[in-house]
Amino acid sequence: MAKYTLLKGFKDLLPEEAERWKWTESIAHETFSAFGFSLIRTPILEATELFTRSIGEATDIVEKEMYTFQDWDEKKVSLRPEGTAPTVRAYLEHNLAVHYGSPIKLYYLGPMFRHERPQAGRLRQFHQTGAEVIGDLDPRQDVELLSLLTHFFERLQIGDLTLEINSLGCPACRPAYRAALQAYFEQYLPELCEDCNRRFKTNPLRILDCKKDGCKEITRNAPSPIDHLCAECRDHFKAVREGLEQLQIPYQLQPHLVRGLDYYTKTAFELTTNKLGAQNAVAAGGRYDGLVEALGGPPTPAIGFALGMERVIQLIDPARIPAVRLQLFIAPLGKQAGQFLFPLLLALRKKKIRSEMGSDTLGLKNQMKRADRAGAAYVLIVGEDEMARGKAILRDMSTKVQEEIPLSTLTETIVTKLSAPSS
Ligand code: HAM
Repeated sequence: MAKYTLLKGFKDLLPEEAERWKWTESIAHETFSAFGFSLIRTPILEATELFTRSIGEATDIVEKEMYTFQDWDEKKVSLRPEGTAPTVRAYLEHNLAVHYGSPIKLYYLGPMFRHERPQAGRLRQFHQTGAEVIGDLDPRQDVELLSLLTHFFERLQIGDLTLEINSLGCPACRPAYRAALQAYFEQYLPELCEDCNRRFKTNPLRILDCKKDGCKEITRNAPSPIDHLCAECRDHFKAVREGLEQLQIPYQLQPHLVRGLDYYTKTAFELTTNKLGAQNAVAAGGRYDGLVEALGGPPTPAIGFALGMERVIQLIDPARIPAVRLQLFIAPLGKQAGQFLFPLLLALRKKKIRSEMGSDTLGLKNQMKRADRAGAAYVLIVGEDEMARGKAILRDMSTKVQEEIPLSTLTETIVTKLSAPSS
């Protein structure tokens, strides 16, 4: 037993798994950039107020899940629980609308922190890949963003996903909906859980998201925001749905879908799977047309999503991910061969041939064992005899076929033979 171990809800990514991440992230970079998004990297630590102001005081994240502490200068800071608020902060702080024009499309990858109860699929440090479009109210933008999301999963060949969508309305129609919800839930207060009784006053929409069986039952007949949308929100949502149909992106209308963060307006969505148990959302997002203004900027519509990388990677068929194998193991037999082959190792690595060299103090058997364990595709063997004959032996480890290569053209011959499309 190791003396120091991981904190609960935190995870190491060991080399094999980390390779899967690298591959998935490379597909994310490719896909997001094909859709016109630019990468942004914001710090992990931010002023606590940024999150309380944006996510909302009466949300689980702000009430009980943030890693918050007082910095040495007494300022209250938090590890970021999500990436939207920091992106909007950066957008405003650096005047990105002026520098890059509007709308601006940004994406990010990185760790997020929430002190939730750890369980399968739920971590305290998890990773999100997210996309945000700031400065466009056009429903086509909602559709574009959803097409990016669904296309990303197509590229990963992850199927059996359900896109659930809803519209949460705007400040014009929300008060009437909130009142309708309160009128409905009032009669059930004694049956609703303690948390929902509290939510009834602070944030009745959150009751719709309660996971307790009793509350879920009551919620079934609760009014939906869809029935309380103002004309503008109704038209917007209609156009989003028509756009999805035009692009043949399947979706399900989920009239009780709400989000755990308060900044959402109009379109809200979740992409779910039935393969991960209770934590079934692989991605989620929506419009947040009031957030830029709430953080001190001019009224600016925006929309985005984030996907949970741990959950996504769990759904990828491991056979899809190219194996990272050692291409060449160099086995020098004796000091003279070792001396001669050492520069070759660097020359090959510079040509991107993944290679390692054994120790010239070991015999062939031991070196072959090492080559085998590393999964080497080829082994290059040079001993005293080969040095004298001016030839090296190249052994194909899968066919066991050996061939001789002149020492004088070693680098070129190996590079030509082993240069494959990079994986
Ligand atoms: P969220 O629904 O809180 O939204 O998180 C998005 C995704 O992150 C979830 O669907 C899930 O896949 C993953 N996730 C969340 N919490 C955990 C956890 N504890 N462990 C593992 N995975 C987790 C947001 O964060 C919004 N900022 C999304 C957004 C972007 N909306 C607009 N733009």
